[in-house]
Amino acid sequence: MLEKNIDLNGKRVFVTGAAGFIGSYLCMELLKEFADIKILGIDSMNDYYDVGIKEDRLKKIAAMLGCAGRNDLGEYGVPASVSGTEKFSFVKGNIADKEALDKIFAEFKPEVVVNLAAQAGVRYSIENPYAYVESNLIGFCNILEACRHSLDKASEEYKGVEHLVYASSSSVYGSNKKIPYSTDDKVDNPVSLYAATKKSNELLAHSYSKLYGIPSTGLRFFTVYGPAGRPDMAYFGFTNKLVKGEGIKIFNYGNCKRDFTFVDDIVEGIVNVMQVAPSENENGVKYKVYNIGNNDPVNLLDFVDILQQELIRAGVLPEDYDFESHKELVPMQPGDVEVTYADVTPLANDFGFKPSTPLREGLRKFAEWYKEYYK
Ligand SMILES: NC(=O)c1ccc[n+]([C@@H]2O[C@H](COP(=O)([O-])OP(=O)(O)OC[C@H]3O[C@@H](n4cnc5c(N)ncnc54)[C@H](O)[C@@H]3O)[C@@H](O)[C@H]2O)c1
Repeated sequence: MLEKNIDLNGKRVFVTGAAGFIGSYLCMELLKEFADIKILGIDSMNDYYDVGIKEDRLKKIAAMLGCAGRNDLGEYGVPASVSGTEKFSFVKGNIADKEALDKIFAEFKPEVVVNLAAQAGVRYSIENPYAYVESNLIGFCNILEACRHSLDKASEEYKGVEHLVYASSSSVYGSNKKIPYSTDDKVDNPVSLYAATKKSNELLAHSYSKLYGIPSTGLRFFTVYGPAGRPDMAYFGFTNKLVKGEGIKIFNYGNCKRDFTFVDDIVEGIVNVMQVAPSENENGVKYKVYNIGNNDPVNLLDFVDILQQELIRAGVLPEDYDFESHKELVPMQPGDVEVTYADVTPLANDFGFKPSTPLREGLRKFAEWYKEYYK
């Protein structure tokens, strides 16, 4: 086990993608666990999927702080300031906007940065490649540059960014055949632009860690799901379609396996990792990459089966729903991979933690949330 070397109490933490699925859960968990933390969240609130869900996630954070509905709050019901005096502040902004980002770093002076803002999704990169270039490449470079220059201004009271944690993805493993996927495996064969940008993030972070001594940790998340998740992902999209009586397409004729990981496990992993800035490795670089996945891949047809049962149990769909007539088995989509399966041994060894939520339990929470949210 690694020793914690960052106490998040009293720290200023900058979370990008704070209105996103994982980002909003992370903010809530940090606020719950660390009484004296100061978080600044940023999100562009883009309309890649329903902005209403992003707004509701921010409202939930605001409600947690007991400040929803007050007049002195920003557009989304949370204090819009970058002063670092609030427990949680939110700025609507784009990390690809270098000027805005530099201003935030200059005023807020973050000590820990968690970069979750990105254009996610594999299939959308075929339709809108430049969204990935803007957020995942330009945006990420801006984050690195801002972290770098925070160190130039280091003083007695502000040492600059002490740890950069950023989201990578299981998609970097491309069509690798060896499973489970290990962070020691070669990942030079991305099969989507999304995957290529995530692998680029790891390379860019490595170079900045080497050149400027920024301790950085990349986290390869595996198919994250849960309540208030992303409507573009299969479990959510399938549910929307089934509710409307539309058919669902099951790719590669159902011969796919995914290491579905419940959002609470991902957040627990991020919070653990945030508190351990990597020390120098054998090449003198403060750099680490971990997988965070459930380590238990599930066949797509079994997944759909459990989802169906849980949707009926939660009352989202009626008891007698005719699933068979709504399912269509279709070929593989470009950019998709057959299996994702995380080797989480390094995570378990270094942090004494690995994801453990069974798929049924996680889908039950999603189905119950869906019923309540869309009632
Ligand atoms: N959910 C998953 O299964 C999964 C798997 C692997 C990796 N990831 C990665 O984890 C991170 C979080 O994913 P998520 O599922 O919460 O996605 P999400 O889309 O819900 O969250 C990302 C948020 O970032 C915001 N954003 C996008 N571009 C931005 C920009 N240029 N400036 C500011 N904000 C911007 C979006 O509005 C969104 O709210 C992403 O980096 C994603 O690539 C997610």
